[in-house]
Amino acid sequence: MGRRVSLLGLCFWVCTFVCGAVSADSHSSRGENTVQVNVSVGKSAIAEIDEDFVCATLDWWPPEKCDYGVCSWHSASLLNLDLSNKILLNAVKAFSPLKIRLGGTLQDKVLYNTSDLKEPCTSFVKDSSIMFGFTQGCLPMARWDQLNAFFEESGAKIIFGLNALNGRTIPSQGPAVGAWDSTNAESFIRYTVNKNYKIFGWELGNELSGNGVGTRVAAGQYASDTISLTNLVLDIYKDVEPKPLILAPGGFVDSLWYKEFLDKTPKSLDVITHHIYNLGSGADQHLVEKILDPTVLDGELATFRNLQSIIKSSASATSVVAWVGEAGGAYNSGRDHVSNTFLYSFWYLDQLGMASTFDTKTYCRQAFIGGNYGLLDATSFVPNPDYYR
Ligand SMILES: *[C@@H]1O[C@H](CO)[C@@H](O)[C@H](O)[C@H]1NC(C)=O
Ligand SMILES: *[C@@H]1O[C@H](CO)[C@@H](O)[C@H](O)[C@H]1NC(C)=O
Repeated sequence: MGRRVSLLGLCFWVCTFVCGAVSADSHSSRGENTVQVNVSVGKSAIAEIDEDFVCATLDWWPPEKCDYGVCSWHSASLLNLDLSNKILLNAVKAFSPLKIRLGGTLQDKVLYNTSDLKEPCTSFVKDSSIMFGFTQGCLPMARWDQLNAFFEESGAKIIFGLNALNGRTIPSQGPAVGAWDSTNAESFIRYTVNKNYKIFGWELGNELSGNGVGTRVAAGQYASDTISLTNLVLDIYKDVEPKPLILAPGGFVDSLWYKEFLDKTPKSLDVITHHIYNLGSGADQHLVEKILDPTVLDGELATFRNLQSIIKSSASATSVVAWVGEAGGAYNSGRDHVSNTFLYSFWYLDQLGMASTFDTKTYCRQAFIGGNYGLLDATSFVPNPDYYR
């Protein structure tokens, strides 16, 4: 069931998060000092969002990921995040349920250490001469077990971003060549289902649509790979309910690419995801002025409108919905003293409102923790102002 978007709803929702507080104490004091204010502005709904519209991401970036000389990820990677931290647990629990999308740039270089893996399970190693600046990495199954224990305890709904570059050749120019090799993903999904871990959705790939970031995959190829994923998931989950969602492509909206992709995946895709970094680079000295400029913020309206119309006119119109799968405002990890301050809420709240009016069902903020744009501080785990939005 969806939630109606009206100004009344948004105001109430903002208050709920602004007035709440999260403490490391297991008897959370959240809500004790809540002042309820009812603001009645309008009652007619203009769109519907998911009941659990709020989503945040966890990424793979290792501590060695640095941007413009600032290393802002610390131990916030899926591979090393301290899952025993009480603030982290309570911060996820407070949303019950919080959707968490696991992924990011390096997801298309991650191997899963299931029994089919024919090579050693090694960590990412920094190498600025190669695509994405790191070698391939690997998720040990022991770590996957720990992550799932945490997700279950915190009540999170997990969207897992699969490596969509497996098996392809990446030429120096032009799109990646060849079909997706789903072997490792298949055994990873089987392992997950055998362990009874609940995955809300499986997403294929990260930022490979259109011109791509680092490399790209042609829309027709991506559509056939997505259909392969759907068939695989239906087979693995044949005796399991509920079925997980299938999401793709988690990239930037490119009209022709998205249109072709949607036309070629009718009934295979549940959610079309797109990413937003509408504030430009985190290195920009004028980021503050941009955030306070409504013209800059409204620049994203065209993308939402465009995607909405592409969906409506596509062969998937009745079966697919749109999510923002990852949005961090300023790319390359945000900017210290800007994306982790109260000021960033002018961007974030504007985006939440804008997305919902264009029928976006879920909005995933980059990142729950990590970089300069985390909802939690990457070292202290203390919530930044945007957490309360
Ligand atoms: C606000 O609205 C809610 C739901 O209709 C109601 O229960 C509550 O008493 C109202 N609060 C105030 C302060 O009017
Ligand atoms: C990967 O799996 C193999 C075989 O089960 C195991 O021997 C190895 O220790 C695992 N590697 C890591 C890093 O977990």
